[in-house]
Amino acid sequence: MNCLTTNLTAFFREEHHFHALVEDLRARASKPIRIWCNAASTGEEPYSLAMTVVETLGTSAQAKILCSDIDTKVLATASRGVYTADARGLSPERLKRHFMRGTAKNEGFIRVKPELSRLVEFRTFNLMSTSWSALGDPFDIVFCRNVMIYFDNPTQRKVLERTHAAMKPGGLLYVGHSENFTDSRDLFRLRGKTIYERV
Ligand SMILES: C[S@@+](CC[C@H](N)C(=O)[O-])C[C@H]1O[C@@H](n2cnc3c(N)ncnc32)[C@H](O)[C@@H]1O
Repeated sequence: MNCLTTNLTAFFREEHHFHALVEDLRARASKPIRIWCNAASTGEEPYSLAMTVVETLGTSAQAKILCSDIDTKVLATASRGVYTADARGLSPERLKRHFMRGTAKNEGFIRVKPELSRLVEFRTFNLMSTSWSALGDPFDIVFCRNVMIYFDNPTQRKVLERTHAAMKPGGLLYVGHSENFTDSRDLFRLRGKTIYERV
């Protein structure tokens, strides 16, 4: 399975989502926020979410980010939280604020600070699985980006129905730049560029 997956990702990929996320987080700040980043690959995406949470709500933010992928190898990289110092998408300010720089034999590598890793929890999860109830309480925000393009239409619909059931009413679903679910407007209503609100 690990050999079959395509894992391309980057920090703050599709940056407009993170600007929208700031507003979304502010609007939900009065209660604990549950976020699910599925198909999270090697972790750049969930840590971008965690950086946005910390920058918007502070290091004591009441937020949890469940980070999942079908591929155990990429999840292991994600949970280690170590990247090369020239990783794409990271500004010098963010690099300094959210990462520790390696020294000696770790020169050239960076590791996420504990205030980011405390927000993130990792779990293997196949979007084709039928045991979605194991994901726990409903989510406020779901990032499901650049994975549905690999599924046929009936499969996409099934995943959307399960995602709908796993979210709170009014929750926001962020999808990839080439993914379009306007056919499923009974489940999700378009709210912004590739951002849908759970009906
Ligand atoms: C192209 S990457 C996208 C990574 C990230 N979401 C982004 O947009 O930068 C696709 C990810 O989907 C994962 N994936 C593929 N099929 C999956 C499935 N059935 N369930 C969960 N994850 C899956 C792959 O392992 C891979 O890490």
